[in-house]
Amino acid sequence: MKITVIGAGYVGLVTAACFAELGNQVLCVKKTEKNLEDLRKGISPIYEPGLNEILQNNLKKDRIKFTTEIGKAVNFSQVIFVCVGTPQNDDGEADLSQIEEVAREIARNIEGYKLIIEKSTVPVHTHQWIKKTIKRYSPDEVDFEVASNPEFLREGSAVEDFMNPDRIVVGVKSDHARSTFKKLYSPLTDKGHELIMVSPASAELIKHASNSFLAMKISYINMIAELCEKVGVDIKSVAEGIGSDKRIGKKFLEAGIGYGGSCFPKDLKAFIKIAEDSGVDFKLLRDTDEINSNTRIKFLEKIDDILWINKDKKIAVWGLAFKPNTDDTRDAPSLEIVDRLHQKGAQLNLFDPKAMGNFKLSFPEDDLIHYHDNKYDALEDSDALIILTEWEEFIDADLSRMKNLMKLPIIIDGRNIYEPRNMRGFEYYGIGRNNSDVSEILK
Ligand code: UDX
Repeated sequence: MKITVIGAGYVGLVTAACFAELGNQVLCVKKTEKNLEDLRKGISPIYEPGLNEILQNNLKKDRIKFTTEIGKAVNFSQVIFVCVGTPQNDDGEADLSQIEEVAREIARNIEGYKLIIEKSTVPVHTHQWIKKTIKRYSPDEVDFEVASNPEFLREGSAVEDFMNPDRIVVGVKSDHARSTFKKLYSPLTDKGHELIMVSPASAELIKHASNSFLAMKISYINMIAELCEKVGVDIKSVAEGIGSDKRIGKKFLEAGIGYGGSCFPKDLKAFIKIAEDSGVDFKLLRDTDEINSNTRIKFLEKIDDILWINKDKKIAVWGLAFKPNTDDTRDAPSLEIVDRLHQKGAQLNLFDPKAMGNFKLSFPEDDLIHYHDNKYDALEDSDALIILTEWEEFIDADLSRMKNLMKLPIIIDGRNIYEPRNMRGFEYYGIGRNNSDVSEILK
């Protein structure tokens, strides 16, 4: 099938490449010429495991092309995925100006029937606004339908999540659109992946409800971790114990410095705003958001309690990305934590396997901030190590080499990547960890 994808960011690029990989003919539209030549060579501007390979594979097979001409793209196919950004406004509302701009462009260029599919995360009933906009701005009577097909891709595993989805959610009205989606996703449903067909409004709401539930689960375990610290219980034992209940599930019960990224923080606030505008009080989600903000503040207080004065202390920071396997630092806890330590005059030696380029945009090198090209150099002669992202290479690091490199063997672990019982010789601090209660779950 021929497919148009409008937007070449984290969602658009993965969607375009993966649909091409599934055997479709894809034309992906970018707003600007930036990175266009790289994309045409199969070089992705974002780090996403496996993305470059499938880009190159499908460029070779001539199954994916890139353009900045939206008019050509609108009429390249009957199926148009809208994958543009919906960033957050100051009041927490989703900024839908890019969505509206695309709807106007489609209206100006549309020829013949189109199935317009919102994949961007949007407030419920946005599909009606897209429909109204296209009717208003198209010169003649046009035949089209607006559907919703929210993505559930996690950064760092987006290609994997697209090819092996827990479920595919589609919000459609007509039988024609239903059959188009069934054909589009048949390579995945044939492998047993579930295709859930609902109304467009339900599909829009499922996305926000899903993300905010996951965020709530994280704030829940971080709230419990705070109690664990006070009463001398190990949060990992508690997480194992509750997560073994299939109704709760073991995932998203990792206590730490909380969630960041371009989705949870923004989607939660947008969902709260939608509810308030509809006269419903989402206090539970406001508390979720507040607990997450406080988790970072409490981590900074922990650093003060452990190090006393930060000024002139040589502090190594491992991990800047909001999570491992991505270069993305949007709303990463590291931004707030590094900012506060920087303001207090600490000597900061930073390392992240992928995210230093993006992080430097917020925190360029200066007399207090230094970047290193490997984790051990960053650790040299440090008064303490602070861990903010659970990259595999930190988990596998050589503890004795670390101890020899550090001036003081103090580790403040914001992602609980180490086991207290293995940290002999270190002054090791996790979150909600407790040496005495690090019980083994009998296998
Ligand atoms: C999320 C949703 O998972 C995905 O379905 C949606 O499409 C986009 O938003 P993403 O933000 O890329 O994906 O990453 P995710 O793996 O969900 O982690 C989000 C944040 O939660 C990260 O900062 C991560 O460090 C944090 N997290 C995750 C925890 O603190 N504890 C956990 O147990 C899991």
